[in-house]
Amino acid sequence: MNFSAVNKKANRVFLLPAIAIIVLSLVQCTPKHQVASSFKAGTTADDPNKGLKDYYKSYFPIGVAVNTAALHGPDSALIVKEFNSVTAENDMKMGPIHPSENVYNWKNADDIVDFATSHHIKIRGHNLCWHNQEAAWMFKGADGEPVTKELLLKRLKDHIFAVAGRYKGKIYAWDVVNEAVDDSNDTTQIYRKSNWYNICNGPDFIEAAFRYAHEADPQAKLYYNDYNSEHPVKREKIYKLLKKLVEDHVPIDGVGMQAHWKLNEPSPGELRKALDEVTSLGLKVQFTELDITIRLPQLNPAPGATTTPVPDPGYTPELEAKQIAQYKMAFDIFRQYKKFITNVTFWNVSDRYSWLDQRGGGLMGGAAAGGNTTRMVKKAYPLLFDENRQRKKAYWSVVGF
Ligand code: XIL
Repeated sequence: MNFSAVNKKANRVFLLPAIAIIVLSLVQCTPKHQVASSFKAGTTADDPNKGLKDYYKSYFPIGVAVNTAALHGPDSALIVKEFNSVTAENDMKMGPIHPSENVYNWKNADDIVDFATSHHIKIRGHNLCWHNQEAAWMFKGADGEPVTKELLLKRLKDHIFAVAGRYKGKIYAWDVVNEAVDDSNDTTQIYRKSNWYNICNGPDFIEAAFRYAHEADPQAKLYYNDYNSEHPVKREKIYKLLKKLVEDHVPIDGVGMQAHWKLNEPSPGELRKALDEVTSLGLKVQFTELDITIRLPQLNPAPGATTTPVPDPGYTPELEAKQIAQYKMAFDIFRQYKKFITNVTFWNVSDRYSWLDQRGGGLMGGAAAGGNTTRMVKKAYPLLFDENRQRKKAYWSVVGF
């Protein structure tokens, strides 16, 4: 028998299709994120088994804001793979967790803490004192009149002891006071005129909240958290507040910069300046609520004006490119400041749902600033995962280093 002839035939019958199958399967196995063509050989970036937390292992924890639905649905696997810190998006805020004097809703907060603990994920607490989503009952007595400063501070102390006390040793950092600084361009007006400020007739509640939090959980890191912290006017006001707290030996570890950013804001210079200023006080920084909307704030139409609806072009390649560049710029700077940055947390998991989608009214939607007319949905596409929970190109721009 002529074995070589048989072998040649066998080659033709089996080998060629086998080669074709191997080639085809190689093509199919090629990761979808080939877009990341800028990766250099030898970098650690392009590894499908890694998540954001792994790429940033030697920098800082990477967190995400969650609600309980996310923990029990399809977001859960993504959270565990990509993140090593979580923040409750709403469930630890004063109103939701402490709706009336003797009522605490622990269920959702406990659920988030249990989920994180069982997956060895760190937990940021958000927040202990805020003028929004507040426990409105705290401001009024049984007679419906505003309470005294003394009673308000007692209620604040009881609240902080109950909440920070319950999660003592489990929550490693708290946003103790949220958004207490005024937004106007009046540089003499440092503090927001909230119920807290008005009833206390000044900013004493801020210092008090930090002291109560430190007493309730001496190990927890304590942060002051605010937005627009890179805007020159607000930045200076926040700086003055922090400087005073540090000088008065208030137990504060750092500042939370919320980082609800836009495609063109902040500039690299503004971001560096904000970082340089607060770190000069010896404070750490956490970027606590990062998202970069593709929307620009739009003015609402004048009352009575008629407007022609403009079709929404959505997440265009041009906006996508700007978002990629802004994310890259931010993380390039974050890595340079790693000595001072102790957490970077995204506000929501994927573009499937962002709190920004619900914001604004009139022609608005999808941006943090602005109006209060009829609400509409206009998607903001502000995160690193798309509506199908897949990694966006912006994802690869922050891990490709
Ligand atoms: C937002 C939540 O994401 C929304 O679900 C809620 O309706 C309003 O609050 N700054 C903060 C966060 O400190 O608590 C806010 O979270 C977003 C702005």
